[in-house]
Amino acid sequence: MKVRKAVIPAAGFGTRFLPVTKAMAKEMLPIVDKPTVQFIVEEALASGIEEVLVITGKGKRSIEDHFDSNFELEECLRKKGKNELLQLVEETTKINLHFVRQSHPLGLGDAVLQARAFVGDEPFVVMLGDDLMTDTTPLTKQLMDNYQKTHASTIAVMKVPRNEVSSYGVIKPDGKVDDRLYNVASFVEKPKPEDAPSDLAIIGRYLLTPEIFKVLQHQKPGAGDEVQLTDAIDELNKTQRVFAYEFRGKRYDVGDKFGFLKTSIEYGLGHKEVQGNLKNYIVKLGKELEAGKVK
Ligand code: G1P
Repeated sequence: MKVRKAVIPAAGFGTRFLPVTKAMAKEMLPIVDKPTVQFIVEEALASGIEEVLVITGKGKRSIEDHFDSNFELEECLRKKGKNELLQLVEETTKINLHFVRQSHPLGLGDAVLQARAFVGDEPFVVMLGDDLMTDTTPLTKQLMDNYQKTHASTIAVMKVPRNEVSSYGVIKPDGKVDDRLYNVASFVEKPKPEDAPSDLAIIGRYLLTPEIFKVLQHQKPGAGDEVQLTDAIDELNKTQRVFAYEFRGKRYDVGDKFGFLKTSIEYGLGHKEVQGNLKNYIVKLGKELEAGKVK
C-alpha cells in the first residue's frame, strides 16, 4: 500500500524556548525567513506525501494562518509589483493541510492518537518539527521507499554521543538486515546514559502501520509522566516487526537553542539575500574572537 499521509505533532508548549513561546507557537520560529514547520511540510511534499495533518493545541492558530491565503497581503504585493514576494506567500497556500487540536497535552503518543480518524487504515508517517534533515533524498522519502520493500513500521535513528542519549528514545538493536536497517529488540524512551541499550537514538521521522493506534489507545504514561510514542512502538514491536533505519545525512535540532542558532547560520549561508554579508561577518567575528576582542 502506498504511503500518502503525514502527521505533524505541533501541540507542545515549547518550554525550551520560553519566554518567546509563551504567546507564540514554537513551530513558527523562523530560520532566517521561513517558519520551522514550513520546512517539515516541504519535506512531506518533496517525499510525495499527498495529505498532511497538523496536530495543534492552544495558542497555535498562527500555524493555520500561515498556510491559509491572506487576500489583503496578496493584493498589496500584486499592486506594488512585488512578484517574488507574492510567489513566496502564495506557495504556502498551495499545500493541502488539515488540522486537529489536542485538547490536553498528555504527550507525543496521545498527540499521534488524535490522527486516528485522518489516517484510517493506512500506513503513515509522523514528522516531528524539532528535527530538520538535509540529504538529497528527504528522510521521509527514504522511509517510504524502504516501506515498499518491508511493509513494516520503520523508525529513523541516528548515532548520538553517549552522554546525550537521555534526550531521546533509544533502540536496542537485534542484528542488521542490511547496511542501514536494524531489527530491534526494544525501544526505550529517554534512558540514563548508563542504562541505554545503544547510542542509536530515535530522530523525528517515523513510518507507522495503523495498528499503532490500537496500542496508543491503551498506552499508559511513561517517561516524564507523558504518553510516549516510543513505548507504544515498543509494544507494537511485540506483535509485528518494527525496524530501525539509520539515517546518515545531516540533522539539525531546532528544538534546542544552540541547534536553532546553528541551523539559522547554516541556512543563512545558503540564502542568496544574506549569504555574502553573513560569511564576511562570521570571518570577521572569528578573528575578533581569536584576538580576544569579543567575549
Ligand atoms: C521526542 C521523542 C523521542 C525522540 C525525540 C527526537 O522527544 O519522544 O523518542 O528521540 O523526539 O527529537 P522530545 O524531543 O519531544 O522530548
